[in-house]
Amino acid sequence: MERTLSIVKPDGVKKGLIGEVIKRFEKNNIRITAMKMLHLTKKEAEGFYAVHKTKPFFDSLTTFISSGPVVVMVLEGEDVIKRNRDLMGATNPKDALPGTIRKDFANSIESNIVHGSDAPETAAFEISYYFNALEVCG
Ligand code: RTP
Ligand code: MG
Repeated sequence: MERTLSIVKPDGVKKGLIGEVIKRFEKNNIRITAMKMLHLTKKEAEGFYAVHKTKPFFDSLTTFISSGPVVVMVLEGEDVIKRNRDLMGATNPKDALPGTIRKDFANSIESNIVHGSDAPETAAFEISYYFNALEVCG
């Protein structure tokens, strides 16, 4: 059994897609074991995306993700890191496959509706960034 972190980004919340994203997880047999809404500060966003610190898009990415409320979730299931990434689609919605969240709803490579951890190590760091052990249901 694997865990991953999902975020409905500010554009997803503004477009009223929280329920749509959750529906896709539930339909695909992915269990939600923790969930909350929060509005990140710029500093909190920079800590979360520290892995991208040297990238040219770091400032606009952290400004965007801290621009409004987000919904963060822990997902659990077999191979859930990859299965969530498959549901999300490619980072750039132009490259995303039909039927993926980003193809269906995203405006651009930056306003791309959802985040998902990309490996077990990043999932562990990202989950612990938002949730303590007591907040994740077994
Ligand atoms: P995420 O981390 O948000 O789930 O997205 P990802 O793995 O598909 O993409 P990643 O390479 O980790 O990039 C993180 C986020 O940074 C923004 N980005 N902008 N302007 C650009 O060239 C660019 N490249 C990436 C996207 O919002 C991406 O989701
Ligand atoms: Mg990523």
